[in-house]
Amino acid sequence: MVTSSAPGKVYLFGEHAVVYGEPAVPCAIERRARVTVEQRSDSKLRVHAEDLSLDGFTVEYSGDADGHPDIDVSESLVEAAMGYVDAAVDQARDAVAEQRGEDAPAVGFDVSIASDIPLGAGLGSSAAVTVAGIDAATRELGVELSSETIADRAFRAEYDVQKGQASRADTFCSATGGAVRVEGDDCRGIGAPDLPFVIGFDGGAGDTGKLVAGVRELRDEYGFAADTVEAIGDIVRRGEQVLADAAEDPESDRIDELGDLMDFNHGLLEALGVSSRSLDSMVWAARDAGARGAKLTGAGGGGCIVALDETDETETALEFTPGCETAFRAELATDGVRVESS
Ligand code: MEV
Repeated sequence: MVTSSAPGKVYLFGEHAVVYGEPAVPCAIERRARVTVEQRSDSKLRVHAEDLSLDGFTVEYSGDADGHPDIDVSESLVEAAMGYVDAAVDQARDAVAEQRGEDAPAVGFDVSIASDIPLGAGLGSSAAVTVAGIDAATRELGVELSSETIADRAFRAEYDVQKGQASRADTFCSATGGAVRVEGDDCRGIGAPDLPFVIGFDGGAGDTGKLVAGVRELRDEYGFAADTVEAIGDIVRRGEQVLADAAEDPESDRIDELGDLMDFNHGLLEALGVSSRSLDSMVWAARDAGARGAKLTGAGGGGCIVALDETDETETALEFTPGCETAFRAELATDGVRVESS
């Protein structure tokens, strides 16, 4: 039996635009999905999941054909999570076959997931589950993959589940940890200062596939929407420079400029139609509380915002903001996927 964990992430800059080849900078955060995998004597897959959100509900799900989840979150979210587990297990079997130069092993697994990353809320829960699942399942079969190979396999799994509407950003960031830069297939770690992330969560979730498709339609129809996507790329390029300067000199006022760029990025995402009333309220509450900047993170439509504030003001303000269910501080996670026990 092997347990592996992988972190969630926030986007400092660049979600959605990254789908069209613009760069993006996601940062891993210390909220992790833990996946335990144990080989079965038959070829079935049984999945048990709990705590798939911050708190407030538990999901009991057995992947048996007639098993019905006993949950108080949208069933489609749980089904989506199970789709990622399925895809992760397929990738793990395939990776083991590739290493051994033989057919994929016809083994079944018992899989347990415990995650403190809310589902579908822009914090990379599906990528974290997929990454940790591939690591645990391959280790259970006696094969150890590099974090880059896990990132690539996890991307392929997400790509399948999201029907081709996925970038490498979430999966690479979760596999390697830290701050990363993603542009098309080019993914690499970059230096970052200790960023004072505060996260606000509205308790909801967006449908990534629909939101990505909505941006695609706008971009196909209107030149100015395509320009907006490119302008997000410009913000990211500027943001990378500022981040590099801030990493070298954490005492400088560069964090203020990062915040300004986050504000700008949120405005452009709003223009592309992927924000929501609750996300906007949380962004404005953070700004009013003195955050250096704030934006939605991930696909949008609902879920989380990320703000930069080293004081307690933003977290307190968010706790009193209508539409915000929970606010919390998150540290940059320097570890990506890692084995917890075997
Ligand atoms: C979703 O977390 C981020 C998007 O950019 C989609 C992707 O990059 O796969 C909206």
